Formats: sequence, structure tokens, C-alpha cells
Amino acid sequence: MKSKIHLIGAILSTLCIGSFFTSSILSELFGSTEFIATVKHLIVLPGLLILVPAIAITGFTGVILSKDRKGLLVANKKKRMPFIGANGILILIPAAIFLNQLAASGSFGMKFYIVQGLELVAGASNLFLMGMNIRDGLKMKGKL
Ligand code: HEM
Repeated sequence: MKSKIHLIGAILSTLCIGSFFTSSILSELFGSTEFIATVKHLIVLPGLLILVPAIAITGFTGVILSKDRKGLLVANKKKRMPFIGANGILILIPAAIFLNQLAASGSFGMKFYIVQGLELVAGASNLFLMGMNIRDGLKMKGKL
């Protein structure tokens, strides 16, 4: 059961970050300013409302599941989690809220694109770290 919850949390949080990342790039490359503002709003609501509990549940169940586990795979997963969390709390969440405010007021200047760039770098780093956690998780379950 805990393992199922961990898996669902892992899939949901990866899908959230992946879709925030792709929809930001696509809307900013091809969309109107109204469309970008809509995307930025959806990333905050309901996006963050889904991502934050999903990632917390993934980390929490991961720690519980790892109680009886030893070895490099689980140790590496544990080491990555603080970076994933810090990236989320210190960069992704504040950036999403700030970008939504800027987009809602039609401010698409230098400030918007600097914060957007930072958010994309943090998002890509988390996708990479979470991808490695998925790979190691599947290895531990003998599915890879
Ligand atoms: C966002 C971070 C994480 C992602 C994306 C992730 C992803 C996964 C995935 C896909 C599996 C395979 C589940 C299955 O096939 O049923 C798994 C298993 C596992 N993960 Fe994670 N994980 C994350 C964080 C953690 C953390 C922080 C820990 C430990 C502190 C951890 C410990 C484990 C353990 C022990 C298993 C094996 C579960 C079992 O034997 O039933 N995970 N993880």
C-alpha cells in the first residue's frame, strides 16, 4: 500500500513539473500574452495545490519504505530528496507565484524572463533528480 502511494506520488509530481515546464515554454514561444497569463495562473492553481502534497507524500512514504532498506540505491535517493525539496520550496513555488502576478498585470519585461529562466533551470534540475529517483526505485523493485 505504502509502495503504491509512493509510486502514485512520484508519477503525479513528475507529471506536474514536466507539464509546468512544457506548458511554460510552449505558451511563451507560441501563445498570446493572455494565454501565457492563463498558463501561469493554472500552474499556481490548481498546479501547486497538486504538486506540493504529491511531492511531500512521495518523500514521506519514501522515507518510511526505506526503513528496512540498505545499499547505494536507497542512499542516493535519500541524498537527492533535500535538493528536490529545496528547489521546490526556494525556487519553483515562489517563482510560480511571482510569474503569475507579473503575467496577470501584463508585465512581460526583463524581470519576467529572468525569473522564468530561473524557474526553468530549477524545473529541469528537479526533473533530472526525480528521473534518477524513479530509475533507482524501479531497480529496487526489480522492474529495471
Ligand atoms: C521525488 C522523489 C522520488 C521519486 C520520483 C521516487 C520514485 C520511485 C519509484 C518510481 C519507485 C518504484 C515504485 C514501484 O514500482 O512500485 C520507488 C521505490 C522506492 N523508493 Fe522512491 N522516489 C522518490 C523519493 C524517495 C525517497 C526520498 C526515498 C527514501 C528516503 C525513496 C525510497 C524508495 C524505496 C525504499 C522504494 C522501494 C519500495 C518497495 O520496495 O516497495 N524514494 N521510488
